[in-house]
Amino acid sequence: MIHVNENYSKLQASYLFANISKRVREFQQQHPERKLVWMGIGDVTRPLPEACIAAFHAAVDEMASADTFRGYGPEQGYAFLREAIAVNDFQARGADIAADEIFISDGAKCDTGNFQELFAADIRIAISDPVYPVYVDTNVMAGRTGAGANGRYAGLTYLPCTAENGYAPELPKAAVDLIYLCSPNNPTGAALTRPQLEAWVDYARRNRALILFDAAYEAFIRDPALPHSIYEIPGARDVAIEFRSLSKTAGFTGVRCAYAVVPKPCMAWTQAGAPVSLHALWLRRQTTKFNGVSYPVQRAAEAVFSTAGQAQVRRLTDYYLRNAGYVREAFQRLGLACVGGDNSPYIWVQVNGDSWAFFDTLLNDAGVVCTPGAGFGQCGEGHIRLSAFNSFENTQEAMRRIAAHLPVHRAA
Ligand code: MLT
Repeated sequence: MIHVNENYSKLQASYLFANISKRVREFQQQHPERKLVWMGIGDVTRPLPEACIAAFHAAVDEMASADTFRGYGPEQGYAFLREAIAVNDFQARGADIAADEIFISDGAKCDTGNFQELFAADIRIAISDPVYPVYVDTNVMAGRTGAGANGRYAGLTYLPCTAENGYAPELPKAAVDLIYLCSPNNPTGAALTRPQLEAWVDYARRNRALILFDAAYEAFIRDPALPHSIYEIPGARDVAIEFRSLSKTAGFTGVRCAYAVVPKPCMAWTQAGAPVSLHALWLRRQTTKFNGVSYPVQRAAEAVFSTAGQAQVRRLTDYYLRNAGYVREAFQRLGLACVGGDNSPYIWVQVNGDSWAFFDTLLNDAGVVCTPGAGFGQCGEGHIRLSAFNSFENTQEAMRRIAAHLPVHRAA
């Protein structure tokens, strides 16, 4: 008899964003005349930068000729892209990362979800609350937790991120082995400062722990004091894996290109205490289970790092940050406290009540789709997340509708 992986039965019935899409589809079927404004899932709407389009076209043309055609690519990704990333994203910021420590992939979601496969079943895991659901769900699937109740799973160490602590996770009281950090954070939009990251790196070094650092939103950082990479912190090379994505940076959600940085000194240990290279393990895992990113996509990604591409990406992220600032200020005028939206495309709004009820009110009354905070964990309750990836005109329309339908929240 074929037995199922019963860990799956501990999960919520559906993934957060699939659940929201289903609710919105049902609403739209009942009210086909209503025009909704999407501020829910962080999916971009602006076209690819011109430099990427040109490189993409040229690479497709190469595939059309036997002389320049390419089949399977190198396992970690093409050297031209890994070199461009190492130089521009790390060495230019004083972070000591080499091209052969970079693994090209099709998404930070896949990488952050898959990396846990390298670790033992009984490691102790610390996760922020609220949190991007992928970190939790993939550990549930792998059997590292007990049952779930009230947005939490037994066996995980939750690090509450609340208004009281500025939405920054604090070091755990009991020792943990694996720590998930995301900065600028999804969903709160809060970014970790240099001293906060230093404290985490120091913790990981003292405890022989490992940090999985999700920096998918670093391109939205505008405060020059904030680190973009964990490798800007001395000592991080030994204890941190970093994940990045071109999805939000350069409009690649439908194109797919991301990467993981696995520095060669990063180790995990056998039960007998022998060190094992995570770089070697991840290479083994990826070469077995992953076929790589297509050549034209990697050429389009390379163009992100050209002089023109960098300027275009800056304009793109500036465009979304203008939306984010508009949303934050509009909510503040309505008397609701917010975080994020300055170094992040997400705005985390304190609504002080049932966040799914607030989601329904916004959908039904204002025709605006947000993400309810409870979907990101227990500490997300009482909040909603707005994403800034719509057009500026739609962002203005969303806030006009919200202001019109939530008079009760207006500032006195
Ligand atoms: C989000 O809305 O949180 C993101 O779009 C999720 C993702 O990038 O996978």
